[in-house]
Amino acid sequence: MMNQSTAADQHSFARPAEVVVRHLSLQLQLDFEQKVAFGTARLDLDRLKPSNQVILDTKNLDIEGVTLDNGNKASYNLGDEVPFLGRPLTIELLPETKFITVKYRTTKSSDAVQWLDPEQTFGKKHPFLFTQGQAILTRTWIPLQDSPGIRFTWDATITLPKELMAVMSGTNPQEKNESGEYKFRMELPVPAYLIALSAGDLKFSPIGSRCGVYAEPEQLQKAAAEFSDMEKMLIAAEKLYGPYIWGRYDVIVLPPSFPFGGMENPRLTFATPTIIAGDGSLTSLIAHELAHSWSGNLVTNSTWDDFWLNEGFTVYFERRIMESLYGKDYAMMLSVLGFDDLKETLEELKDAPEDTKLKLKLTGRDPDDGMSDIAYEKGCLLLEYLENQVGREKFDLFLTAYFKEFTFKGMDTDKFIKYAKRKLALTAEVEAVMLQFIFEPGLPSIVQPPVSAKFAAVEKLADRFQSKQVSTKDLPTKEWSTHEWLHFIRSLNPTMEQPLADQLNRDFGLSKHGNSEIRFAWLMNRIAASDASLVDDTDQFLGSVGRRKFVLPLYRSMSRKPEIYPTAKDIYKRHRSGYHSVTRQSVDELFNTK
Ligand code: BES
Ligand code: ZN
Repeated sequence: MMNQSTAADQHSFARPAEVVVRHLSLQLQLDFEQKVAFGTARLDLDRLKPSNQVILDTKNLDIEGVTLDNGNKASYNLGDEVPFLGRPLTIELLPETKFITVKYRTTKSSDAVQWLDPEQTFGKKHPFLFTQGQAILTRTWIPLQDSPGIRFTWDATITLPKELMAVMSGTNPQEKNESGEYKFRMELPVPAYLIALSAGDLKFSPIGSRCGVYAEPEQLQKAAAEFSDMEKMLIAAEKLYGPYIWGRYDVIVLPPSFPFGGMENPRLTFATPTIIAGDGSLTSLIAHELAHSWSGNLVTNSTWDDFWLNEGFTVYFERRIMESLYGKDYAMMLSVLGFDDLKETLEELKDAPEDTKLKLKLTGRDPDDGMSDIAYEKGCLLLEYLENQVGREKFDLFLTAYFKEFTFKGMDTDKFIKYAKRKLALTAEVEAVMLQFIFEPGLPSIVQPPVSAKFAAVEKLADRFQSKQVSTKDLPTKEWSTHEWLHFIRSLNPTMEQPLADQLNRDFGLSKHGNSEIRFAWLMNRIAASDASLVDDTDQFLGSVGRRKFVLPLYRSMSRKPEIYPTAKDIYKRHRSGYHSVTRQSVDELFNTK
């Protein structure tokens, strides 16, 4: 029997203590012309308490009717719209009702779903679709109990035009079929935010026996080469923290408008094409999403206030995977880059100290608002701190036991604290620091910034370059990894003399660089310098990607420069319709566009 979380989830209308969904059976037809998905969701109910209704989460769905398992129409009521949350769908049940079927259609405002025109794809011939459920968007394409503390199994039948193939966060086809109908299953219980669907002109290529990649045919070989270490990552992960229980681990490379770097949909990570750099240098993202197969997908935050339990653990786990594949120096570079991001986020949030605690209070807010680098990097620092206190061996056993003991059970911050205290026998002093990480803003003073010898060398060169002691030709860039490049660029003061910036850009093609992270870091530096010469390249980049991590900081930085603001707003107006709702929502706030 599943353990339902007891902490109330402020972002769901469901009352799982009364009636809880145990299985979802989804039948959907995808109409790419109308850009609408329609069909039925059958929900199997567990009646835990005598109650004559079940409440589902919905947002921007057209509910066409609800039937009971006896074939009769159910009476139901769609409540008023609540900001961010959508509308509760209350369905009247008979004492013996075991399942209900909701007939519905998605709408233009079903924010999880992005319907892409052929021009927005790599191949430019076929339309494409993908969904993004986390945090509370699954309710915009399926009526269900949309809370991370509620888990259920599911199956689905998806019908779509024959030229396209569908894939989901479950068992997947590896080839197109002739019928245009695909069946999926997920036999392990998952929360709603981990249900995902994508469809397009897709092909599969295996990488080892348990891993593989889906992509548009034109991009498939490049993707497979980029992710060639995937199965090694999986083996390393299992060696660290126990067996991978989901069966296969595949990745799908989506079109560039995918709003995230990656999303840990079970069995099938959704990934941005911007991690295809040609040299495998951005694949820590795959390690990250893979790590979520334990931290997040087995042991899940019970509410979004505990988001750090998903992401902080995952960043820690990701760096351990990278360390075991590529060594300590490599992992240290990732830590320093992450620490620098954290410092920037702390600065950005200096007027919102509440949001710099690990334990969040997101009641009444869009959970998306509170999700920052704090959960990721500060969360990881807490785990590193604990590791240092108790020793790696003991800490690894602790994490292995944690993942095992709490598999498919909700986890919240208090539960974690109790467990850590008990299992790690923390001293009062260590416990106090742990609580400070969790409940206080900013960073405990005990935190030492991570150091990388490779980066120290790069910093020196950045200084010497800016003071014209060395020129571009003297920079040992042939020996630099992507991470050293990133640190070099971040170490350059935007106020460096313009001719120096011009020369760097000319010699290394930074503003059009094929490595998206390098290109992004450089454009950020030049915007900070109000360097107007790169506005066109920035425009081009913003028109070619929708990944929020790139798009939002670029627009934000431009919007803060009064002389660039009008241009930035115009750039956004032109590209807005190509972005996924998640990205649009964040950028709209900068320009008051809606
Ligand atoms: N689960 C997150 C993505 C996410 C977070 C979606 C919050 C919706 C709400 C995913 O695992 C993630 O963290 N992605 C990162 C990459 C990672 C390497 C830090 C991203 O998309 O940039
Ligand atoms: Zn993550």
